Amino acid sequence: MSISRWTTLRRRSFGPRLALAVVLAWPVLWLVACGDSGPSKAKSGKPPANLPGAGPDGAPLGISDDDTTPVFETAAQCGKCHKAIYAEWKESYHGRAMSDPLFRELSAGVNKEECIRCHAPVNLRDSGWETPIARSDQREDAISCLSCHNANGRMAGPHQGLKGACRPVYDPQQTDVVKMCFVCHNQHDTGNEWLRGPYSPEAPEPRQRDAKTCLDCHMPEVERPLVEGFPVRKGRRHTWFGGHSLAQLEKAAKLDVVTEKLPGGGHRFRVFVTNVGAGHAIPTDARHRSFDTYVLLRDAKGKILLDPADPQQQARAHLAKFRKFYRGSGKKDTQIPPLARVDTLGEGKGYIDVPEATSGTGEAWLVYRLTPRDVLNKRSLDPGDRNDIKRLYRARVVIRLEFSFGP
Ligand code: HEC
Ligand code: HEC
Ligand code: HEC
Ligand code: HEC
Ligand code: HEC
Repeated sequence: MSISRWTTLRRRSFGPRLALAVVLAWPVLWLVACGDSGPSKAKSGKPPANLPGAGPDGAPLGISDDDTTPVFETAAQCGKCHKAIYAEWKESYHGRAMSDPLFRELSAGVNKEECIRCHAPVNLRDSGWETPIARSDQREDAISCLSCHNANGRMAGPHQGLKGACRPVYDPQQTDVVKMCFVCHNQHDTGNEWLRGPYSPEAPEPRQRDAKTCLDCHMPEVERPLVEGFPVRKGRRHTWFGGHSLAQLEKAAKLDVVTEKLPGGGHRFRVFVTNVGAGHAIPTDARHRSFDTYVLLRDAKGKILLDPADPQQQARAHLAKFRKFYRGSGKKDTQIPPLARVDTLGEGKGYIDVPEATSGTGEAWLVYRLTPRDVLNKRSLDPGDRNDIKRLYRARVVIRLEFSFGP
């Protein structure tokens, strides 16, 4: 294999290595690229043997300041010292972006090369926060610690003046979400929706909502040491709860029901959804996801008149679907913008007329699906552990709002 090929491969890896450095370091790179699973060595200095231990004052282990090679190259290595953050990241969908069963299925077993660039990217600073580039190695680390933190071999963060074996360095870009999160999440506008919306720092006065960034809602604040034995500092959880988390979904929306007497008897039931808690439209750009509204009805004696969990009645009980449909489907985009209150936006009616419903009680349901094939049935009602983000793939009832109607 020619040297220029290796140059390409290595340039696509975490560190921006100059071609010259690649030529000089040729024998080492050969070993790494051929599957040596050990940590690749920095040019000057090597991973410290006694982890975690740069000493309480974090002596930088004699690594020279101009070295652009990260001392650590896998997330597991970072995890030796940053235990709590590593555990959160590993569980999160950034940590799972290459092992997520749905991603594996749609990327033909991660063999579609065009999919890798956002799911296992190089150091994001390398591309100037433009389109990410696919990584050539450590792909199992998915959206790795290094993708977001590597700054010329140092680990960039929100704190000033820290010392440690990973050569921490302050960089305000770390908390600039327009760079840090837009680089992948704005491909389908989630970033712009936030910027244009009521949570943006630039929203017009009087503000409808306090400004909140992606970090405020997806990386909650926490006070803890960054490494055991070091001082407690203000930081953020690396959980990124989104559509996989029932607890996060519950924050997104509120329901309200308007009942109206029909002239011929019975009632019309209309369910409104308000996007009260998401800084962007819901659901977001992943086109297979959807929110749906349904209604369950009982008569005055408690007998069920209409049951969304019954496969025979489900279509009738379904009032509206909110989703960005697949390209080419010809269907209108029905995502709900921040703070909007809607009954329907597309083909659904948003209401149902039920002549036999004279008086009784009911429930409005907000249902979330990660994929169109997620089935809605009795088990969808079981909230289970609301923080369990691996309970896939069944439709989940996020909200059940009780109401009554008639005399
Ligand atoms: C430009 C960056 C980018 C590229 C390229 C990309 N993705 Fe993604 N992908 C994302 C982002 C961002 C999300 C999270 C979207 C969201 O939840 O709003 C995502 C989410 C997903 C999900 C949803 C996972 C889930 O559990 O719901 C699947 C599946 C997926 N991508 C498959 C693919 C496939 C297949 C390809 C290649 C054809 C691909 N992606 C290419 C950025 C990208
Ligand atoms: C040998 C232990 C050790 C390892 C391994 C390690 N770090 Fe660190 N890291 C530290 C110490 C010590 C600090 C400073 C802690 C303090 O003062 O609160 C730190 C601080 C940081 C900071 C904060 C920077 C700032 O200025 O805000 C980031 C980000 C960081 N590390 C990322 C990483 C990443 C990513 C990896 C893996 C590539 C990693 N670290 C590996 C010990 C380590
Ligand atoms: C390198 C590209 C990339 C960057 C940078 C990135 N994300 Fe993601 N994010 C993704 C992908 C890809 C997924 C979907 C992974 C999957 O489910 O397979 C995702 C998923 C998510 C989810 C949804 C988790 C779920 O339960 O479905 C949230 C929330 C999220 N990201 C927030 C953020 C925030 C906030 C930032 C900025 C700090 C950020 N992301 C930066 C690519 C990225
Ligand atoms: C999608 C991007 C992303 C990934 C992946 C990521 N981080 Fe972070 N990290 C951030 C952001 C954004 C901050 C700044 C949070 C803040 O303002 O406190 C941060 C902050 C930190 C800090 C400083 C303490 C704190 O909480 O602010 C450390 C240490 C750190 N990350 C380590 C890691 C490690 C270790 C991994 C991998 C196990 C990792 N990060 C993965 C985006 C990321
Ligand atoms: C005011 C709080 C808030 C802000 C600000 C916010 N989000 Fe969200 N986000 C939510 C809530 C609540 C959900 C759950 C609803 C959902 O999954 O559709 C969510 C869901 C998501 C998801 C999961 C996608 C899906 O369809 O389930 C992604 C990805 C995401 N947000 C990314 C971002 C990014 C990137 C930013 C910044 C540009 C951001 N969010 C800003 C509250 C917020």
